[in-house]
Amino acid sequence: MSAASSGLAQRVIAWQRQHGRHGLPWQGTRDPYRVWLSEIMLQQTQVSTVLEYFARFLRRFPDVQSLAQASSDEVLSLWSGLGYYSRARNLHRCAQDVVTLHGGAFPKTASELQTLPGIGRSTAAAIAAFCFGERVAILDGNVKRVLARVLGFSGDLAVLKQERELWQKAMDLLPTQQLDAAMPTYTQGLMDLGATVCSVKAPACERCPLKSDCVAFSQGRVLDYPVKTRKLKRRCESWWLLLAHDLQRGVWLQRRPATGIWAGLYCVPVFADEPSVTQVLSPLHRSLLQPAPVRLHVLTHRDLHLHPMVARLPASASPSIEGQWVPWAEVQSLGLPTPIRKMLLELQPDSVSGHRVRGAASA
Ligand code: ADE
Repeated sequence: MSAASSGLAQRVIAWQRQHGRHGLPWQGTRDPYRVWLSEIMLQQTQVSTVLEYFARFLRRFPDVQSLAQASSDEVLSLWSGLGYYSRARNLHRCAQDVVTLHGGAFPKTASELQTLPGIGRSTAAAIAAFCFGERVAILDGNVKRVLARVLGFSGDLAVLKQERELWQKAMDLLPTQQLDAAMPTYTQGLMDLGATVCSVKAPACERCPLKSDCVAFSQGRVLDYPVKTRKLKRRCESWWLLLAHDLQRGVWLQRRPATGIWAGLYCVPVFADEPSVTQVLSPLHRSLLQPAPVRLHVLTHRDLHLHPMVARLPASASPSIEGQWVPWAEVQSLGLPTPIRKMLLELQPDSVSGHRVRGAASA
């Protein structure tokens, strides 16, 4: 390791102490349960959103044992709104593995942490660095950008071999002394630089402690890094939704399959086209179906156009498709996809919500 790179780690550490983010509820602790929970939540969600969920999770599940013992329904329900529900399922499995395979204590090295569900290489490293001062590199999307720019790394990060090269360089740059104190601050510093200074489109290079080391800056080509050729292929899909409801019985819900979009969550029945919705109602009740405005729901790889079809059914009728009536009073406590939760909130009777959110077909 060169003298220059050891200076780089020191500059990141000094900058983090002065300008980085402090006082977040998962900082100032070395409790792996809290750090792990925050890192999983922060993977695809911004800090401002995570704050509320983190506090709620900890109130309900103060330790890994209580989370391990919870039902998956309750975990999904508390996670509801954070999206990327595979994170919640892995979170629950991970808690169970920590209890059953590790006696209730998180392992203390990145390589062991990485064997647990939902903990990838970078998350394992973050936990090990924050909690145990292990000398291991993180390399999430933000840090890839920071390092690719500083190093002028022109390898294509969509190519595994070149991504591995950047991992190696990230390891070479790690602090070498007083690791117990240096590793948490350095790790947080890289995250903070990526989130607050070295942004994707408008990096604030004048505020960057690494400006004088930064190859991309010296080339005047900051926005050309990181190089990644594989573009996300976005797909467009239309889903028709049957919102069958009834004042007394509630709403007709089913469980989503264990894999795919919204896996394991409760949901209204989903169809590929409008005629298929019609077919699950008896000819007598088809005329009750009312289309509601189409909504766009954006997922990582897909734009979902949701076409709600609303039918208030008489007491004797049920859709002929898998599912069950769920009373209005229970609906909002289930793990539901966010757009479905909103639609049902608009549909539910005044007596449940206490107030009408918007005129809906139940009126
Ligand atoms: N994103 C991922 N981990 C984070 C952390 N510890 N603090 C802030 N943002 C993060």
